Amino acid sequence: MIVDGPAADSVPARLLAPEPGWTTRADVVVVGSGIAGLTAALRIHTGLVHAGLPDHRVMVVTKDVLDAGSTQWAQGGIAAALGPGDTPEQHEWDTLVAGAGACDREAVRALVTEGPEAVRELIALGTQFDHHPDGELSLTREGGHHRDRIAHAGGDATGAEIQRALIAAVQRTPEIEVIPHALAVDLLLDADGGVAGATLHVMGEGQRDGVGAVHCRALVLASGGLGQVFSQTTNPAVTTGDGMALALRGGAVLRDLEFVQFHPTVMYLGPDSRGQQPLVSEAVRGEGAFLVDFEGTRFMQGQHELADLAPRDVVAKAITRRMEETGRPHMWLDARHLGAEFWEKRFPTILATTRSHGVDPVTELIPVAPACHYASGGVATDLWGRTTVPGLYATGEAACSGVHGANRLASNSLLEGLVFSRRIADVLPSELRPWSDPVADPRVPGLVAGDQRRRLQETMTAQVGVLRSADGMKLAAETLASIRADGATEVVDLEAWETTNLLTVSVALTEAARQREETRGSHWREDFPERDDARWSGHFDATAHDQRLSLEFRPAAPSDVAPEEGVPA
Ligand code: SIN
Repeated sequence: MIVDGPAADSVPARLLAPEPGWTTRADVVVVGSGIAGLTAALRIHTGLVHAGLPDHRVMVVTKDVLDAGSTQWAQGGIAAALGPGDTPEQHEWDTLVAGAGACDREAVRALVTEGPEAVRELIALGTQFDHHPDGELSLTREGGHHRDRIAHAGGDATGAEIQRALIAAVQRTPEIEVIPHALAVDLLLDADGGVAGATLHVMGEGQRDGVGAVHCRALVLASGGLGQVFSQTTNPAVTTGDGMALALRGGAVLRDLEFVQFHPTVMYLGPDSRGQQPLVSEAVRGEGAFLVDFEGTRFMQGQHELADLAPRDVVAKAITRRMEETGRPHMWLDARHLGAEFWEKRFPTILATTRSHGVDPVTELIPVAPACHYASGGVATDLWGRTTVPGLYATGEAACSGVHGANRLASNSLLEGLVFSRRIADVLPSELRPWSDPVADPRVPGLVAGDQRRRLQETMTAQVGVLRSADGMKLAAETLASIRADGATEVVDLEAWETTNLLTVSVALTEAARQREETRGSHWREDFPERDDARWSGHFDATAHDQRLSLEFRPAAPSDVAPEEGVPA
């Protein structure tokens, strides 16, 4: 089935930009500097040395500073079958169940079997995970996991510790050049449609300022997710879907964009709070906290065998339903019984954050509501991070490797970035393409001014958020079209690039969500409340041709459809 998008100008082919004012070269460009980007850069550098290319150049470009992305904010941890009695098969089963029949089983198998070694390697690199007094790695549990398998650091500061260790490793590797404050705008393609480079907008000073070009032989997108599409999100301000939009414009396939995960327990700061909101990790429920409504009823009990630790789509839906039934803007998380000492040791970051917003979780309930948390879809890749564009690879949240399906299992995201960046580094050195010249391509106007961003975010939250319907999404599609028309600008600045990228991914996400007439994982349709395997077992692939978005439904392989009954022993 192929469905054409609604508007002939729904995806600009290339963005109108000033001619590059400077040019540089690197064999491999990595876009993004979280766990996926820095792991890719470090391992590709090592791989190229081993491949007999000691004089190669690896460049990391990042839109802000190295630690401005989502990795830094990850609280809960990184999942891997490292504990006694746990196995990759059990981790695989939990991942497939959470993914609601939309995972790629081979990708999941790679994730869970290579995960333990990848985490050990992170430890060898200098990451300080939390340990028990007897020296054993401390492992906790989160929603959807049947075993304690989440390694954490600094209690609830896992991402920050991993980011610190990776930045230190990059700083020990002077061969890796870092360009901060650089947005990758568009791919430069050669005559065969393969990667020849990218245009960058560097918000710096000196030689590399403004729009320039980097010529390269391979480009790895590790630019993170699209959380800023929605007005409340746990994601930092930089997550504007830039890598996904660039890939779509450059000819790559975006897959599963309709599967956006809403985290159930995000601290509710009031009706006017916008942008990044404080996450209250699922690990708090893993340690015994539970949800209650305004009457004090534990409404997760009886909804799922894992109750408060059900997969997060189940919990997010239960909270949303209860909010609707009771007319309240949030529910409550009760973690008072954990006690001050435990809170201070295990969740120091969350404790400080909630207190800074006037709630002491040691003595008070925390107001929580779902907010956008993670894009399970992204740039479609094979098992080795290759996209459909020669020389273009994708990893981490920017990618859709197939491991998350319709709903990512908690703490599988850091692991995905780690494992699939290692996989890219395993193949890229031996398949590095020769240098090629970019062909001049027509650039068409398509920029949308930054002042349209809030309207876009509010539309997407209201109509394409936790709960979706045909009427609401039709309204969203119309509003997105009018945002493009009303916001057209030729003023080239970061706000406009980002807003254009947000609009591009919003159009693709909305169209896929409109087409998928069922409820599956994090995609919740009030007009189609059941999962419909007969019609919708498969994936929506979005591509752009002649500025037109096209969606193709690709049926799932039979082996991907459902895990076998029963948890493996
Ligand atoms: C959390 O700590 O609840 C978030 C972890 C994740 O998103 O994997």
